[in-house]
Amino acid sequence: MDLGRDDKLAELIISGDKPLCGEVTIGGRKNSAVAVIPATLLAAGTNTLSNLPAISDICTYNDILRHLGAVTQEPSNGVMRIDTSKATPEKSPPLEMVKAIRASYYLLGALLGRFGYARVGFPGGCNIGQRPIDQHLKGFKTLGAKVHTDHGEVVVEASGSRLQGAHIYLDVASVGATINIMLAAVLAEGTTVIENVAREPHIVDVASCLNSMGAKVVGAGTDTIKIHGVQEMQPTSHAIIPDEIEAATYAIAGAATRGDVTLINVVPKHLDAVTAKLGEAGIRVEENGDWVRIAAAKRPRAVSLKTLPYPGFPTDAMPPMMVLLSLAEGTSMVSEGVFENRFDHVEELQRMGTNVRVEGRTAVIEGVKRLHGTSVKATNLRAGAALVIAGLRAEGETVVSCIEHVDRGYEHFDKKIKALGADITRVQDGGDEEDSSDGPADDGDSGQVVSFSQS
Ligand code: EPZ
Repeated sequence: MDLGRDDKLAELIISGDKPLCGEVTIGGRKNSAVAVIPATLLAAGTNTLSNLPAISDICTYNDILRHLGAVTQEPSNGVMRIDTSKATPEKSPPLEMVKAIRASYYLLGALLGRFGYARVGFPGGCNIGQRPIDQHLKGFKTLGAKVHTDHGEVVVEASGSRLQGAHIYLDVASVGATINIMLAAVLAEGTTVIENVAREPHIVDVASCLNSMGAKVVGAGTDTIKIHGVQEMQPTSHAIIPDEIEAATYAIAGAATRGDVTLINVVPKHLDAVTAKLGEAGIRVEENGDWVRIAAAKRPRAVSLKTLPYPGFPTDAMPPMMVLLSLAEGTSMVSEGVFENRFDHVEELQRMGTNVRVEGRTAVIEGVKRLHGTSVKATNLRAGAALVIAGLRAEGETVVSCIEHVDRGYEHFDKKIKALGADITRVQDGGDEEDSSDGPADDGDSGQVVSFSQS
């Protein structure tokens, strides 16, 4: 699978100021996929997951599952088969794998749920704040698990033979904690009620996957989830929902380049907060069924926003949105309501000519008429996407380095952008150019022959 994840020193070279025009097909939701994959550990047998995005976080999880004894087939064309029959929590996954992604924390809930034990290193992920997991661990303890840390690893163990259903109130509407506690509770004895949960669309997706495995989860998508514990779960086949953050990124890129972009294979409702804000900025938005069209012939108007848990404006779309507002007519205010340190893309954007002042968790953006290309560095996933969008609009050439951050969460990013009319080239560490013009990379698997027990 071509993910670019080995392009440790890969760069994108962009010759800017060309409008993006055309259709782009949106892939599966990264943050759902990295929860559904570990969720398959809750049952023994062969699972088939589809509509998986071709991103390096999926590759990392493939490596982690194999380390736990699962038998997996390399994801191919968005499909991954996972036989968890021989999975075991005995060998904790290597720290370097666990620290490569944030979503490795889901291994705690899944392994604790199925085996009553898990030992996993603290997670990694984007550098956008402290990102504690205290709410996850509070949930596990309330379900009756003993929790301690040992040499940088979290160890969770059920006190008796099974976890006991409980009433849990989250201090923060945490996406990760909501899902992780669900994973631990589905096989617990009795009923679990989790209050003040996050309501992101992919939480509903994970719950529907768990229910397809025989779990009894109700209320996902509301602020209270109820789980009736079951004795055993079965393997499943599940298609991941579309990625509304990938969709938002291309919508904003279309608007920032004054283009005309149609997003295919989306759930328009999941994009409401973003398309509403684009409409306020004077961008034309049309939507129907499974597509959304974004057209922007003129300079956007300044608007203000605050990022909030769903259905508020998504924090993951904020860095790209700041690029559009940097080009708007007037002054915009952007408040980050989820993470305490998510403006590290501003410094690099300033080097391209933006006029932004950050005061704590608020950025004051004075719109400018033009940006100019230069060399910039991606510091995390969404910051990297924002820098690419800025390069697409800027006059002259922009080189975005450390593209491995972007490859974690955007499948074939340069190929999809090039197909929309951009002049963009991926360069490997040695300066060898990789043609971004051919279609999405061949997801053919490594030809590995894997025998699967029939489920
Ligand atoms: C998930 O992170 C996503 N990552 C993030 O996406 C996303 O930005 C975030 O949810 C919010 O939607 C994955 O799903 C892998 P949280 P997560 O727990 O679970 C605090 C991307 O770009 N908190 O909802 O870490 C926390 O510090 C990434 O795709 C606690 O205090 O987010 C933060 O301020 C970036 N204690 C807030 O809650 C906890 O135990 C929300 O965090 C957990 C969280």
